[in-house]
Amino acid sequence: MKFLITAGPTREALDPVRYLTNRSSGRMGYALAGAARHEGHEVLLISGPTTLDIPAGVDFVPVESAQQMYDAVRDLIGGVDIAILCAAVADYRPVAVAEQKIKKHADKLVIELERTPDILGSMRSVFGFTGKLIGFAAETQDVESYAREKLHRKQCDMVVANDVSRADIGFDARENEVLLVFAEHTIPLKKDTKEQVAMRIIEHATIIKP
Ligand code: PMT
Repeated sequence: MKFLITAGPTREALDPVRYLTNRSSGRMGYALAGAARHEGHEVLLISGPTTLDIPAGVDFVPVESAQQMYDAVRDLIGGVDIAILCAAVADYRPVAVAEQKIKKHADKLVIELERTPDILGSMRSVFGFTGKLIGFAAETQDVESYAREKLHRKQCDMVVANDVSRADIGFDARENEVLLVFAEHTIPLKKDTKEQVAMRIIEHATIIKP
């Protein structure tokens, strides 16, 4: 089967040397790409900036911004059987990117932000993707119910939900503890390394009925 996996953070430029980003290390997405490859699948990994090594045998497309990730997914989704969107995509970006480095004249600086394109929300309705669609949900409260709401709203087959209020799992941690949320049931996975959690997610992803 052919997998498309997104990973890592995005960077939203403010000026030539500054950007807005988040604490995603890319580990969860890279572990998913490695696990899918290990199981013999063809894997396309679209990633924001990380310091990680690209898993062996994986096709790799580097991007920086949410818009670039959106464009890459739109252009490369053809022929994909299973898409797993694990990237921590910025929800907002600066409305204007300064051409020159912003000078520190005033005591306060107000930056206007606008929404970035919603990649997961575009998969069915805009890109016409008909394969298995797996989203992630990074939540700090009511993890399962928010994840199930996202599953329905974004027409996913499964949502992998993690509690990102915990420092020992989720963003920039070596381990994760997730709920696999489906329309009618939820499967909790025990806390483990991201590599082990990724193996379980790939197992479940391949047996979902589209
Ligand atoms: O990278 P690590 O350090 O290993 O950390 C892993 C992780 C915490 C980043 C990962 O496990 C995770 O939770 N990824 C999703 C992070 C996120 O942005 O969650 P969200 O609830 O804000 O977004 C929900 C879904 O929409 C995600 O599938 C996301 O990829 C997608 N999204 C979000 C915004 C946007 N503009 N387009 C999107 O497609």
